[in-house]
Amino acid sequence: MQVNEYKPLIVAFCCNWCSYAGADLAGNNRLNYPADVKIIRVPCSCRVNPMFILRAFQRGADGVILCGCHPGDCHYTSGNYYTRRRMALLFSMLDYLGIEKERTRVEWVSAAEGAKFAETMNDFAKTVAALGENKRLEDLRCKK
Ligand code: FES
Repeated sequence: MQVNEYKPLIVAFCCNWCSYAGADLAGNNRLNYPADVKIIRVPCSCRVNPMFILRAFQRGADGVILCGCHPGDCHYTSGNYYTRRRMALLFSMLDYLGIEKERTRVEWVSAAEGAKFAETMNDFAKTVAALGENKRLEDLRCKK
């Protein structure tokens, strides 16, 4: 008999210059991370409007992670500093909305850190799986 194991749906926004290349390196090195991590490539982590994260939750994501270059390494000089401040505000607002803060995370992953990328995704998927399905912001009109 097969047991249906719950697998969380995770959206990962990755900046083109570091984290996406890190994800690529993880793939090239055949490092495992959950297939339910859906990567969205963005030019820079600061391209991610906080509304994108709320929308992902509305559309059924159980967890959203934002990955960018290490502070000081952003291809656009200061993009990730904006990201850091913006996300700190968003995370406090999520708390207000009743969404567990463990469902969101910001990580800095460079192009040379394929192992860190895989490790981060495995850890995040485990954390989100322990929280269960995200029902709080789910938009029923988006349900299939
Ligand atoms: Fe990677 Fe800005 S280009 S965070």
